[in-house]
Amino acid sequence: MCAHVPGAGTGTLVPILMRQPPAYLTIPVMAGPIPDTFIDQLMARVDIVSVIDQRIPLTQKGKEFMACCPFHEEKTPSFSVSQVKQFYHCFGCGAHGTAIGFLMNYENLGFVEAVTTLANSIGLEVPGAGSGPRDGAAIQRSRSLQDMMDRANAWFRKQLETHKGSWLARGYLKERGLDQETVESFGIGFAPEEWRGLVGELGKQQPDLDLLVEAGLAGRSEKGGSAAHRHYDRFRGRIIFPIENLQGRVVGFGGRIIGDGDPKYLNSPETPLFHKRTELYGLHRARRAIGQEKRCIIVEGYLDVIGLAQFGIGNAVATLGTATTREHVQRLFRVTADIVFCFDGDRAGRAAAEKAMQVVLPEMHDGRQASFLFLAEGEDPDTTIRKEGREGFQARLDQATPLPDLLLDTLTGQADMSRLDGQARLVSLARPLMAQLPEGAIRELIIGRLSTISNLPDSRLREDFARSDPLPDAPLKRSARLNRGQITPVAMAISMVLQNPSLAGEVSDIESLAELDLPGARILLELLERCSDRPGQNTANLLEAYRGSDSHGYLEELAARSNYIAESALKTQFSDTLDVLREEPSRQRRLQLLEKSRLGPLRQEERQELLMLLRQRAGKTVRR
Ligand code: UTP
Ligand code: MN
Repeated sequence: MCAHVPGAGTGTLVPILMRQPPAYLTIPVMAGPIPDTFIDQLMARVDIVSVIDQRIPLTQKGKEFMACCPFHEEKTPSFSVSQVKQFYHCFGCGAHGTAIGFLMNYENLGFVEAVTTLANSIGLEVPGAGSGPRDGAAIQRSRSLQDMMDRANAWFRKQLETHKGSWLARGYLKERGLDQETVESFGIGFAPEEWRGLVGELGKQQPDLDLLVEAGLAGRSEKGGSAAHRHYDRFRGRIIFPIENLQGRVVGFGGRIIGDGDPKYLNSPETPLFHKRTELYGLHRARRAIGQEKRCIIVEGYLDVIGLAQFGIGNAVATLGTATTREHVQRLFRVTADIVFCFDGDRAGRAAAEKAMQVVLPEMHDGRQASFLFLAEGEDPDTTIRKEGREGFQARLDQATPLPDLLLDTLTGQADMSRLDGQARLVSLARPLMAQLPEGAIRELIIGRLSTISNLPDSRLREDFARSDPLPDAPLKRSARLNRGQITPVAMAISMVLQNPSLAGEVSDIESLAELDLPGARILLELLERCSDRPGQNTANLLEAYRGSDSHGYLEELAARSNYIAESALKTQFSDTLDVLREEPSRQRRLQLLEKSRLGPLRQEERQELLMLLRQRAGKTVRR
């Protein structure tokens, strides 16, 4: 998701430490081609309600606007759009974001495309590279490309029916056990063994030939006869699997050789419409089944998705010949809270699973589940379900290894616990993995189990694994859980400022917060400074400043969080939260010393420090 903001990331925190230059000058968006000031201006002028309403009709309910969520299947509306915050949030699936985020997710646009679409909709031109009148042209171009993909798709499908050479393809599909209904429902087509089949049909004029090349459907050779004859079909003599984006539009193709040969699959290259890192084969059509089953299976091959669907398991998707990326996982977790990764049982499958585990760890917020299914050696989901049927496959799914077990198996497999230094090794192997895992139940569970295995007290492990990222991913999660989740005072203060930027005006001594050495405190400070430097900030402005940074996702969640604070109580609650926050370092120190005193005697100066901290606290309690 952040690929379009090169260099964005941890850079946010440095200027706060240096106090020079001002924080907002280094916010991640700056690193992209579009100036931060422009995003700011755009966020102030665009109205998210009309942006969304043009795509899914909204109904006003009190202050909010509602609709059925476009990101998951539902019958009663839980998708709400706030005009004040310029932010949307689904109480059902937890999807949330700004107008830019909405367009990125709903229309599958990149950041720059989403910004351009929004800007054009209110008659603004995006400054910087690729701007000006060309932007309107860029949108037009992307429409033309989409149109070309649709026409190509229709052509491939027709060839499977009517081309004289298609008997071989139909024969192969039949031999693979695909029935007619499945072939049609997946829109499977056929590219004849010809150099100028598609090109001859759809590339009658130069602009169309250019489009065919840009869409990855045709190649162009430098020498040769007339323009038309320099272009040739990319897909030849292959069975064609159309790849749809989340909206069901065909954005790419996978072409399988008929029988054996190399390469087995030829896929569309990256195009303005097609991004392998984010796209998942079958996601659009699987969404209903994912909603019903409340989980999604992620497999490796096109034919796995198709085979599973034919046998009644419709909630599977596949990556497109790449390893699972973080974007894939984030995308799936927007649709479901439960992902099952499916791998071969061989060594390569194990290795792929460990990679997938690394990718999924940072996304394991409370309420989410990931598990890993290892099939028999040499089998894939397609062959397995054909042998064992739906029930057999379902039984395997139910026995998939939960992520915590896989993680612990992986660790204990590498450390010999019968050796004296085994403990130390276990902890050091666990450290990088634990650093990825957000706060919450899964983390606690794993710490508990590690403690049992290693005979180390869990408090020790907790301290060892203490997270030091810019913002702790506190255990707050989707929908109802969101409301029960506890978050740190810093996170609470951030949440309140994000939702009510005018609160920043209430803080008289911003500087005193600068000294706090708490996770996330710097971001709180940045937000407050940004609000006071630039009057009229709304939730969306603030969030967009962090797009591309590691904290963006968590900040969005804090912006979406229900804090249940009455309008009239906002100011006092906020200043109370800041008070708690200022006392937080001494509270933490107090708890640390108390914990330490339980494990053994404290040193003299530690005892005095603890006594002082306890006295301070007693004083405060009495005063209140
Ligand atoms: P598989 O080799 O497992 O293919 O590759 P499959 O889908 O099971 O197909 P069959 O059953 O052998 O016919 C898994 C995925 O890896 C990508 C494709 O996306 C494929 O579905 N792949 C594989 C390629 O992109 N190129 C290749 O040459 C091979
Ligand atoms: Mn296969």
